[in-house]
Amino acid sequence: GLKKKEVNVICLGLDNSGKTTIINQLKPSNAQAQDIVPTIGFSIEKFKTSSLSFTVFDMSGQGRYRNLWEHYYKEGQAIIFVIDSSDKLRMVVAKEELDTLLNHPDIKHRRIPILFFANKMDLRDALSSVKVSQLLCLENIKDKPWHICASNAVQGEGLQEGVDWLQDQIR
Ligand code: GTP
Ligand code: MG
Repeated sequence: GLKKKEVNVICLGLDNSGKTTIINQLKPSNAQAQDIVPTIGFSIEKFKTSSLSFTVFDMSGQGRYRNLWEHYYKEGQAIIFVIDSSDKLRMVVAKEELDTLLNHPDIKHRRIPILFFANKMDLRDALSSVKVSQLLCLENIKDKPWHICASNAVQGEGLQEGVDWLQDQIR
């Protein structure tokens, strides 16, 4: 068959938001890890969609590793940004990290697509994706395509919709 187009994706977001759990769900079941541990530094993962072959830089969200993120921006052709919808206390920290990303010279003037997952929607006190979008002021992002999906990474819910959107942006 046709060789799939290769795309580099950077997966960002605070620690414990569910990045690694999301990426793990997108991998073929025989390649999925059984238990997920906090990422140290970063991890390179691969998954495929119908037309694309994604290489994901799954970054650690821990404060001490966030300075690593920017080193991968240049190579990234898409961004997945994950938010823990139930972590109201740190929503402002997530917004700060997002704003820093959007203002970075390697991102600022590029029309790079950003897929947001408002993750952990299964938790009782989770905010809706609309509310998360408002708190992060996503409507202010005017020069890049972006999309937000509510997700439950543990059950794999909401992930396909997001990845379908991302694939459409890159084609
Ligand atoms: P770092 O690697 O430290 O940056 O964290 P991460 O963003 O990769 O988070 P990780 O995937 O390790 O998930 C953190 C915890 O949240 C784990 O215990 C997951 O099982 C849990 N988790 C992830 N997604 C969901 C979700 O949608 N719902 C619920 N209830 N728990 C989730
Ligand atoms: Mg991780």
